[in-house]
Amino acid sequence: MSKKKKIMFVCLGNICRSPMAEFIFKKICADNGGDFEAASSGTSSEEYGNPVYPPAAAILARHSISCRGKRAVQFTAKDYDDYDYIVCMESRHIRSLERMLGGDPRHRIYRLLDFTDNPRDIADPWYTGDFETAYNEIYEGCHALYEHLTGEETSK
Ligand code: 4NP
Repeated sequence: MSKKKKIMFVCLGNICRSPMAEFIFKKICADNGGDFEAASSGTSSEEYGNPVYPPAAAILARHSISCRGKRAVQFTAKDYDDYDYIVCMESRHIRSLERMLGGDPRHRIYRLLDFTDNPRDIADPWYTGDFETAYNEIYEGCHALYEHLTGEETSK
């Protein structure tokens, strides 16, 4: 039997984008039957222990997605060994991880929207205030990632 694939979503603070990705991806798996493990973390320790930022939690709740109990954590070198796919929200998060790890020797680090037909960063809603756009882009990326991993179309 093949091992369950583990996915780690990464942003800067782990209070906005990567928790949105974690819980959107879990919902896609619940709805479509994917057998994956998902988690999220930040490149920074700035928000360690904090809950999901209220506007991000609110937009998830509007889509019937709960993030209850999630607290921010920082990405560690051990995560690089433990997770099969490390999926960042922006190129600069990839650069931070590569600095920490001395590169990406196992080729596990990706950018979320590189799985779509329109590769780009997810703009930081902490600064833009636009949680709706962040949600829509993360939703698009998570569906594309799921389809990449399973080879199956999702119901959108
Ligand atoms: P995130 O957003 O990386 O999507 O969780 C941010 C959260 C906090 C800060 C920056 C971005 N901050 O500077 O505290």
